[in-house]
Amino acid sequence: MNNDNQKPKIMASGVALLAFCVVALAGSPALPAKKKSTTIGAHATTMKWTPEIMKTIMSGDPQRGKALAKQHRCKKCHGTDGVSDENDTPNIGGLSRAYAFKQMWDYKYRRRHDKSMRSRCEKITHQDIADLAAWFETFKMEPMMGVAASKSVPVLVEKGDMKRLLLPCKTCHNEKGKGRGLLVPAIGGQKREHFIDMMTAYKESDRTNDDYGVMRFIAEKLTDDEIEQLALYYGSKPLEEED
Ligand code: HEC
Ligand code: HEC
Repeated sequence: MNNDNQKPKIMASGVALLAFCVVALAGSPALPAKKKSTTIGAHATTMKWTPEIMKTIMSGDPQRGKALAKQHRCKKCHGTDGVSDENDTPNIGGLSRAYAFKQMWDYKYRRRHDKSMRSRCEKITHQDIADLAAWFETFKMEPMMGVAASKSVPVLVEKGDMKRLLLPCKTCHNEKGKGRGLLVPAIGGQKREHFIDMMTAYKESDRTNDDYGVMRFIAEKLTDDEIEQLALYYGSKPLEEED
């Protein structure tokens, strides 16, 4: 447990925003048609980064969040410290409060789909969401298996693939998966199966709450093998025990 670090991990990041612009431009309809094109507007997030919302996020009270987490039994699935037992349930400890807030907002307003998350988020206020997000920000992600598990840093992490207009993952998520700024989540040490589920959901446009369609634009160009390789690199524990 690490409660002394309650400083919001929010830093506006010019680089990430610039990167969004590049992706948003590159994703314009001027490109040759793809088999399933990213529809940026469809079921997009309804959360706007207004000063009022920022104020709510920043005013999140971790101690109130702790009590709410107990009341709503977040630990049943996400563990006491935000590290879950199940490989398909995400770790939420160490996610920035801004990212966690936005995700819970999107479950609440049906822009991201999961029954148990929706039923919880529907019942609580924006302030409750901010408090919960502030509480889980005080923990740490699981260690990342990284190079040891995948044998090397995948080219897609470091260099991307300009032929497919793919920016390197590290531009936004950092080579160690730390995440960046308001929007980019930490993915280093995330559960592998959840990671693969999410990349596949973006790929197939089952998850469409990403601003500017940034992750859909990327994921729809990746093969299943590449997604697995990336999950092996960024993820925490192996999918199944290996000899
Ligand atoms: C019954 C199990 C369950 C409970 C209880 C639960 N969650 Fe979740 N949560 C999940 C699952 C499964 C997902 C991933 C769903 C998906 O595919 O989008 C998730 C996703 C999330 C995410 C998004 C994580 C990410 O990386 O994008 C946040 C934040 C979150 N939960 C917070 C909470 C909080 C706070 C509570 C308590 C108020 C809570 N959850 C209670 C199962 C649960
Ligand atoms: C231009 C910036 C950018 C690049 C490049 C980028 N991402 Fe993302 N990624 C984001 C943002 C922003 C989100 C959160 C979107 C949302 O709100 O759903 C995200 C979300 C994710 C998630 C979901 C995390 C969760 O807990 O649900 C995964 C997994 C992910 N990215 C993996 C990758 C991988 C792997 C690469 C490289 C192939 C990559 N990303 C490249 C910006 C980026």
